[in-house]
This record gives sequence, structure tokens and C-alpha cells, in this order.
Amino acid sequence: MSFLTTYPVNDFGPAMKGMVIGGLGIFHVFLAQFAIGGGMLMAYFQWLAMTGREPRAREVLDSYFKYLILVSFVTGALTGVAMWFTSIQISPTTIGQMVDVFHWVWATEWLFFWVEVIAGYAFYRWGKLLSDRARLTLLLIYSVSGYGSLFWINGILSWQLTPGDWVQTRSLWVGFFNQTFWPSLLYRTIACMVIAGLVAAVVVNTMTSLERETRTRLIHHAARFMLPILAMPVIGLWFLAALPEDSRGWVMGGSIAMTMFLNLAVGASALIGGYVVVGLWKQRLTINGATATLLLALAFGASAGGEFVREGARKPYTIREVLYSNAIGEDEVEHLRKVGCTTRDPYPLLEPYPTAQLTLGARTFRNQCGICHTMAGVNALEHLMGSWTIEQQRMNVAKLQWTKGFMPPFAGTAEELEALVQLVRWEHAKRPPNFPESHDPKVLAEIERWLEEAGPRPASEPRPLLATEAR
Ligand code: HEC
Repeated sequence: MSFLTTYPVNDFGPAMKGMVIGGLGIFHVFLAQFAIGGGMLMAYFQWLAMTGREPRAREVLDSYFKYLILVSFVTGALTGVAMWFTSIQISPTTIGQMVDVFHWVWATEWLFFWVEVIAGYAFYRWGKLLSDRARLTLLLIYSVSGYGSLFWINGILSWQLTPGDWVQTRSLWVGFFNQTFWPSLLYRTIACMVIAGLVAAVVVNTMTSLERETRTRLIHHAARFMLPILAMPVIGLWFLAALPEDSRGWVMGGSIAMTMFLNLAVGASALIGGYVVVGLWKQRLTINGATATLLLALAFGASAGGEFVREGARKPYTIREVLYSNAIGEDEVEHLRKVGCTTRDPYPLLEPYPTAQLTLGARTFRNQCGICHTMAGVNALEHLMGSWTIEQQRMNVAKLQWTKGFMPPFAGTAEELEALVQLVRWEHAKRPPNFPESHDPKVLAEIERWLEEAGPRPASEPRPLLATEAR
């Protein structure tokens, strides 16, 4: 498959591109999950009220809980649109592929989303006028369609991480029901429910017009929504087991940042789970507003950690075994090493550089490294490699996938690599206005040799034998 279609290339200055999507994604996921779980909880409370199991549950429905769901629903949708907007700026190739492969799935997801919008709005607008049965029906439609949109999007997101046999078969359903589909879906289902339960606990605490016992009863009902968190360890292990070995390695010690995020997710979930079980179920303690808010903050942390792990575990790919994070196809590396990675980038740079070589370096940087690094800001190349010797700089970039396994192989010519190294050195020297170019053929030949030694394949595949080892 070729990805040689030329999409515009954007520069975001000091912001690391990947982080822009990641940061936005966390808010989006949290809000959207609350909107879905909140709908389910409202249906449950409606049922409690109309069957006489808990008549006062209706007051929760008519309180500002309803508005919270509405707000999260609207902001969830807005951040969703913002995600599309940024990701097509940042990685149009990936989005292009996703739309290509999952065209109809995505259309279906949109249909569910629209039903969710209409049902949610109808409840908000006319809920008070409707009969109990109609209210329940509307809330069930809202919940089922909201959950449906999660179901469809989950197949696409988990396919990016573990496309599995799709890579060979190109069968839509093989890609959709991939090996992380079910653990991810269950994980997200539980997250939706726990977040909704916690928000409900916060809201009930503020409803001082209710007597204490009523509040306690309502909170216990909300706590039922948090109980599935007890299944989280099993689902987490299932998810980890379904990950390819290298990805599992990153989150379990291989990458410090990823391991930290995994620990954050696990730790925060364990605290919530522990509190729910011990506090609510065993001793029948009530959960006060401050605690509920704290637990909610932990849930946000757990969500953030979980999303980071999912995004991070995919490195160096946006679509595993197909497309690297920098939008270079796995099967394009060899070709780009011959023709160069900058030839398909005719777009202007943000700033002028003093020499043609530095300009080439800046283009190489933005085509291959800019998605995960900045030059001098977050995760900056200047900081990571500026003080290395020039040989180290050249060799470690030529053997990029072996320098750190979560980086893709270098996919450009020796000239581009040298230009990138010179750019880092120029940056490290505090950008002097006069900077000599370097075009030593011996150096370029050495870089070629290193590129060959590293091979064009990712680090998840066995390293090629070196010429000296083969003998
Ligand atoms: C998929 C994301 C990704 C891409 C693409 C990527 N890197 Fe990295 N790189 C990382 C991460 C993450 C680290 C770890 C940073 C740390 O240890 O703090 C890293 C570390 C490094 C390091 C330090 C390695 C060490 O052993 O200390 C260098 C040098 C580096 N990258 C160079 C590059 C260059 C040059 C490119 C482009 C040709 C590039 N990277 C592309 C993610 C990426």
C-alpha cells in the first residue's frame, strides 16, 4: 500500500503535535464517557422512581444532574469535533486511512450519535411533560444509541492498536473485532458507569432539600453503578495480554512515562474501587461531597492514564504494522531512503533558516520527528541529543528504531539525516547566523552503512544480522 498522496504538512511551533491530540483526547473521552454513563444512570433512576423502588430518584433526574449530562454531552461533542479538526491537521494520512477502511462503520456511528442527540434533546425539552413510560423509553433510546456510538468507535480505535489479521486479509470485520476490541469495550463501559455514579454522588450530596437517609439511599443506588469497577483488574490483565509483546513491554517498564501512566490508571482505579467496596458496601458509610469530588478527580486521572497508555502502547505506529506515527508507511521506508522524505513536502516552513542544509534539516525534522518531538520545547531533540558527539548523533538517528524501540526506523536519505543532525547542532549552538554546511562524502557513506545495518524494519521485528555477524 502506498501513502504517497501528498497531504499538507503543518507546523505547530513549540507544541508537540502528538500531545495536542492526546490532551484534547483525554477531555473528550472523559466527557463523552460521562454523557453515556449518565444516560444509563438516568434510565436506571427513572426505573427506580416509576416502579416505586425509590420514588425520590425522580428528584435526581430533575435536578442539575440533567444539565450536567447535557453540558458534558455538548462539550463532549464539541471536543470530538475539535479532535477531528486537530487530527486532520496533524495526521491527515492516518485519518485518511481510517476513513477509507471504516467508511460505513463511521457512517453508522454517526447515525447512532444523531439518535443520541435527538433523544437527549427531547428528554431535556419535554421530559417533564411525558408519561413515565415515555420518559423511560426516551432515556433508553438515549443510552442505547450513546452506547452504540461507543461500540462503533471502539472497533476503530482498537484496530489502530491491534489490527491483527486485517493487515493480511483486509477484511473489515476482522479489523473491527480485533483482539483488543472486547477488553477495550468493557473497560470503557465500566469507566462510563463509574464516572456517572460518582457525579451522581456529588449531585445528591448537594441536594440538601432531601433528608439525610434519602440521600444515603440514593447514593447507594448510584454506587451500584460504580461496583463494576471490581472487574477492572481482570479486564486490565485481559487488555495487557491481548497487546503485542513490544507494546506490553513499553507500558510495563520499557518506557518510564508509559509505565507511570499505567500505574496512575491502576492506582487511581484501585483507590476508587477500594472506597466503593469498603466504604459503601461493607460498612454502609455514606459518601460525602468532598470524597465524591476527590474520587471523581481520581477517575479523571485514571481515564487520562488509560488513554495515555492506549495511545502510547501503539508507538511507533498510528496503525500498527501499517503506518508509523509520523505518517510514513511501514513499506515506504526503503523507498524513502532512496528518494528522501522531504520531496513530497513543498509546503513553507514557519521560519527561514540561514543555509539550505538547515532548511533541509527542518523539513526532515517535521516529516519524521515532529509528531513526537520538538526542536527545543517538549521532548526536544536539542535537549535529548544536542550534547552528544557528532558520531553518536549520526549513528543513533540512523539506527533510530534501535536507539529506542518505540521510534520508527529513519526513512530518508543520508543527506537528510546529516542535515537533521546539523540542525540539532545549530540549535544547540544557540542558532549562530553563520553555520558551515557539511557535505563530506565519507560521512555520508558512513551514515549509509549505519542505515543499512539498522535495516528498514521496526524494532518489534528481529534485528537483521550485521555483515560482520553473518560471516
Ligand atoms: C513515535 C514517536 C517518535 C518519533 C516519530 C520519533 N521519536 Fe525520538 N523519541 C520518542 C520518545 C517517546 C523518546 C523518549 C524520550 C525520553 O526518554 O524522554 C524519544 C527519544 C529520542 C532520542 C533520545 C534517545 C536516548 O537514548 O536518549 C533521540 C536522539 C530521538 N528520540 C531522536 C529522534 C529523531 C531524530 C526522530 C526523527 C527522525 C525521532 N526521534 C522520531 C518518540 C519518537
